[in-house]
Amino acid sequence: MNRTPRAALFAFLCLALGAASPVEWWRHAVFYEIYPRSFQDTKGDGVGDLNGITARLDYLRDLGVDAVWLTPIFPSPQVDFGYDVSDYRAIDPRFGTLADFDRLVAEGRRRGIRVVLDLVLNHTSDQHPWFKDSRSSRSAARRDWYVWRDGKGAAPPCNWVSLFGGPAWTLDRTTGQYYYHFFYGSQPDLNWRNPAVRDEMLDVTRWWYKRGVAGFRLDALDTVFEDPDLKDNPLLPGRNAFGDPNMLNVHNYKLEEGRGLMRALRREADPFGAVLIGETYTDSTEELRSYYGNGRDQLQMPTGHMLAMAEKLSAPDFRKRIAATEATGFWPVLVLGNHDLARPASRYGDKVHDDAIAKALGTLLLTLRGTPILYYGDELGMINTDPARREDVMDPMGRAGWPTAKRRDGERTPMQWDATAAAGFTTGRPWLPVPASARSHNVATERRDPGSVLNWHRAVLALRRSRKALQDGAYRPLAQDDPHVLAYLRVVDEETILVAVNLSDKERRLDLGLSGSAQVLLATGSVPAHGLPPALGPYSALVATLGRPGPALVD
Ligand code: GLC
Repeated sequence: MNRTPRAALFAFLCLALGAASPVEWWRHAVFYEIYPRSFQDTKGDGVGDLNGITARLDYLRDLGVDAVWLTPIFPSPQVDFGYDVSDYRAIDPRFGTLADFDRLVAEGRRRGIRVVLDLVLNHTSDQHPWFKDSRSSRSAARRDWYVWRDGKGAAPPCNWVSLFGGPAWTLDRTTGQYYYHFFYGSQPDLNWRNPAVRDEMLDVTRWWYKRGVAGFRLDALDTVFEDPDLKDNPLLPGRNAFGDPNMLNVHNYKLEEGRGLMRALRREADPFGAVLIGETYTDSTEELRSYYGNGRDQLQMPTGHMLAMAEKLSAPDFRKRIAATEATGFWPVLVLGNHDLARPASRYGDKVHDDAIAKALGTLLLTLRGTPILYYGDELGMINTDPARREDVMDPMGRAGWPTAKRRDGERTPMQWDATAAAGFTTGRPWLPVPASARSHNVATERRDPGSVLNWHRAVLALRRSRKALQDGAYRPLAQDDPHVLAYLRVVDEETILVAVNLSDKERRLDLGLSGSAQVLLATGSVPAHGLPPALGPYSALVATLGRPGPALVD
């Protein structure tokens, strides 16, 4: 298995220490997703880099972050901004060097911040040497590393369509066969039925674990396998935003074989105490449960995205989604925003109460049971800023879907550090424009404002760190018929914490049917010196202790 002596010792210690082993560090951690292109530029080329992230580690530590997930930083033609990898064992020079990466890991460690990388399993770039070899001839050494098939007459091998628009098959003139790509044409799918592909990728994970990586976010895990018989997917009525026929992806999505891959990845991760985060979209409890396996053999953190998939802010809907996540019986993962989803403050915002909504959402993300993954800038209440003209669109999905689906540039704009023209992100021309909202919503300005979205997140994160109930407590929903106020308890033996969030634009009575004393610890609105307020203002949130009153922990 080629383990290092250090990893073997670590594995032994974990076994020896039993249940309290550090293997479960991720349960109490707050994760923070960084889109490296957009976080901090130190070279002046308008694109963020690793040294920029290192320079901002103190900010992350002060915020209360325990681990960062970096979207792909490997060499890449950047067609899909890193999700098209051309070398899995190096750093893209735009982002820095391996030495910069090692320094980031070491500086992170000094501050208690772990580094998680993004592993693109499903496909590589068409510029990867593996694909260049594969496409060179039908008898190439790596021909079978990708999915090649003959067409059906003049048509592709089957009716599957790409998530980025058009057929999922591209005819390659050199060999007269089609290659398969679930995503963009320049992202050919690897053939995971080939054991050599699997061995190589497992080795890639070991290589990075030995460099100090604390885990991987597994990109597009659901698309890794496809039906070898290439059966046509059943069609649904209508067409999607790209003009392609709607279909049920039953033959190229979420195939059973994915479980074996998850187990293999987990076997590599465990000796290093590493975490596996799955990009696993689902709306079903049963399906979400299946990603955990038996709780020890597949993913520790399948993201599910149940909360993020809510179409509107609605207490009953969120309550249902939380219950569905809880019902897996496993440790939940909490996500509201990421680099593929419109910013939560915009998705659920009404342009009047956006800051209050950002705080309400942050409260849920950081006080529900489970491990939160906070997307960079959501702690500031950053909003989506979509491109205005097609020629400004950078995202391949956005270009294909213009103008109906502008897609993902809007949530990938530069991090807003201060109120200067480029928001402190770069001294050059930012690769995506800095939103006008950066004037008011930035780290420097918000730090000075006690009522800012940033300071609310800092306070909730500090509270979370100091209260066992918020870390480990069971989730107990309250007032389950309330159409507007989402309320719940987090309970451990020695303490009970109450969280109540008004998810509506009007003041609502706080009617929780609780008896006994309560002491508010944090609130976005005004509260009495003792007990709970009779009502919550529009999108207001509060966190309180119940039973024996505890001292207010946060100013
Ligand atoms: C995942 C990533 C997304 C990327 C796609 C293809 O869904 O999150 O950003 O475009 O995979 O790699």
